[in-house]
Amino acid sequence: MSKVQSPKSATCDTQLPGESVRHKSADLGLWTLDFGLSVTDLRKSFSSREGERIDVLRGASFSASAGEAVAIMGASGAGKSTLLHLLGGLEATDHGNILAGQFAIDRANPTELARFRNERVGFVFQFHHLLPDLTAAENVCLPLRITRVSHREAMRRAIQLLDEVGLDRRVADSLVGHLSGGEQQRVAVCRALITRPALVLADEPTGNLDTTTGDEIARSIVSYARNRRALVIIATHNLALAEICDRTLILSNGRLRQT
Ligand SMILES: Nc1ncnc2c1ncn2[C@@H]1O[C@H](COP(=O)(O)OP(=O)(O)OP(=O)(O)O)[C@@H](O)[C@H]1O
Ligand SMILES: [Mg+2]
Repeated sequence: MSKVQSPKSATCDTQLPGESVRHKSADLGLWTLDFGLSVTDLRKSFSSREGERIDVLRGASFSASAGEAVAIMGASGAGKSTLLHLLGGLEATDHGNILAGQFAIDRANPTELARFRNERVGFVFQFHHLLPDLTAAENVCLPLRITRVSHREAMRRAIQLLDEVGLDRRVADSLVGHLSGGEQQRVAVCRALITRPALVLADEPTGNLDTTTGDEIARSIVSYARNRRALVIIATHNLALAEICDRTLILSNGRLRQT
């Protein structure tokens, strides 16, 4: 198995405590790095269509370790989705630092960011963004195909993972557009986890689901953090979900505080 190095040009000199490179099972051909996340004085503003400045994040700071599941709560519009987008390198910060392991997200160039996202991050979006004209298994396969795993092997793993979250072969072979909301959300979780990312960013993963389905989905994401020693960050309004996480941070007035 060849060892893939994390992007170097944007690295920081400081190594986080307990950080170590750990090789994953050869079957995936991937590696994982137990990393912490360190966020300092993060600021982000948007301009409204009228040209008014909206200060969403006004100096948010926190840190978290591998193996942890952290809930982010806060009122609608507080900036939870914005924060997750910055953490995953989907949007640029205005100010502040985000250090994922040794990788400085805020200083990385677009190529490094794309690679970081593909290899290290799993996103479960608030609106899941699955492709409705592909089957459930094909949707789950997509991130593996980007990493050049063969179609046959990617499908095998996708079907297995879907089965683990209770979606049988019939569902795996169904077009996503024909599935229920709860089934679609489980497919979205599988798509996020299929590459065994070190960082999982989940935005309202249980929104609009019945309590039982939401609870199952939440538990599968949280247990992923513990089983894989990954870092899971979940933005949610769901108190029950927050309670199964290791801790909760509240986002209000653009800053984070511990409950
Ligand atoms: N691209 C953008 N342009 C302008 N304003 C934006 C943009 N993205 C987000 N905002 C504004 O930033 C604020 C925070 O939005 P965000 O989606 O992060 O909130 P949230 O906490 O995730 O809310 P919810 O709980 O409803 O999902 C909102 O007022 C939103 O309108
Ligand atoms: Mg949101």
